[in-house]
Amino acid sequence: MSQWVYLEDISEHVGEDVEIRGWMFNKRSSGKIHFLQLRDGTGFIQAIVEKSSTDEEVFKTADSLRMESSVVVEGRVREDKRSPYGYELDVKNIEVIQIPSEDYPISKKEHGIDFLMTNRHLWLRSKRQFHILRIRDEVIRATREFYHSKKFVLVDTPIFTGAIGESAGETFSVKYFDLGKAYLAQTGQLYLEAAIMALGKVFNLGPTFRAEKSKTRRHLTEFWMNEAEMAYYTSDDNMTFQEELISYIVKRVLEKASEHLEAIGRDVKPLEKVKAPFPRISYDEAVKLLQKKGFDMKWGDDIGGDEETGISVEFDRPVMVYNYPGNIKAFYMQPDPNNPKVVLCNDMIAPEGYGEIIGASQRIHDPDLLIEKIKEFNLPVESYDWYVDLRRYGTVPHSGFGMGIERLVAWICKLDHIREAIPFARTIYRIHP
Ligand code: 4AD
Ligand code: MG
Repeated sequence: MSQWVYLEDISEHVGEDVEIRGWMFNKRSSGKIHFLQLRDGTGFIQAIVEKSSTDEEVFKTADSLRMESSVVVEGRVREDKRSPYGYELDVKNIEVIQIPSEDYPISKKEHGIDFLMTNRHLWLRSKRQFHILRIRDEVIRATREFYHSKKFVLVDTPIFTGAIGESAGETFSVKYFDLGKAYLAQTGQLYLEAAIMALGKVFNLGPTFRAEKSKTRRHLTEFWMNEAEMAYYTSDDNMTFQEELISYIVKRVLEKASEHLEAIGRDVKPLEKVKAPFPRISYDEAVKLLQKKGFDMKWGDDIGGDEETGISVEFDRPVMVYNYPGNIKAFYMQPDPNNPKVVLCNDMIAPEGYGEIIGASQRIHDPDLLIEKIKEFNLPVESYDWYVDLRRYGTVPHSGFGMGIERLVAWICKLDHIREAIPFARTIYRIHP
């Protein structure tokens, strides 16, 4: 019996007989030899079945395999510098688990995006998707690592919430027993604000839901967000922390997932420049810059996707735009004491046209001002009673932010569309599979 090994460890088994448990994703054959392309979820290898040197039954089995047959293949590992995978397997035996009775729907030919999304459950097996999902895994691992290295505490925030969030228009609701409606969380921020008063520096990482009808390359209705909240942090402290976080994640992905970046053809040079400090420009400066570049924009307008791209192309690393007008931002943001028309906040805009990856601010810590703002934004004051309580008992200045995992992955991988940055994308027109 040969030892079962994973392809990611194959270099440790050169010259040995091993067993690979996986799938055949492609095959080239001549009358005398079959080249089986195998994958096992951790890597890829070419397996060689030669008529002259293999058992006749085994050769016949290889002949009968179709795409996506599940197989346990036994063979000897050989290093091969010419092979794209670096190693090959000289096959001794093949145990068939299943040969599909039909042709696999995804073939080598070009498929439209609609077809691929409808077959997302199968599309995941394609090489490019394999690499993207592994980069996503590394992004999330690095995110968690960073927070723990900075002694933050993970606080998991609820997904069912009462009528509380950023703004009422963008929530999904579900019937909740006798208590009326529950809303799917758009953010865990308000709960993290409660948690910092107990734990100082906290973070979460989980799914959030937005019922906004934005049909763009950057919007999902369900996306994963990492949020952080820090007691006693000013908006400046907050920005410094964000640039360290992003620099760390990008560095980590370059170190740990370079083979995956290379496999999807990502030019890593722009990523190598992503080192703190990042440029910071005020909203005022951003408006002037955009006007100079010919954007039809005046002070007070929001900075949309095209404008974000217009700003980002001026810089070689992420850029932080700070202190937006209060009326285009959320109710809880702290007004600037030097200019009450703007709030102490920042968005971080990714390079290469990927738009906002972080939304951040210092939060109002005065209870009366907070109540005033809740009313001004036409939100139900009763629902925010506990949130105001946080300002009644030992309030402190504090700041935090939310980082969109898929936006980050889309940028790091340089994807055309955010839907490939998450295993099963949820968009306005798609909830299946
Ligand atoms: O800017 P947003 O809306 O900020 C908040 O929700 C704050 N409560 C976060 C906080 O301060 N704790 O969202 C944060 C980030 C955005 O910068 C963007 O990266 C991502 O979440 N995001 C989306 N990603 C994909 N699809 C969508 N529809 C997104 N909406 C926001
Ligand atoms: Mg935002």
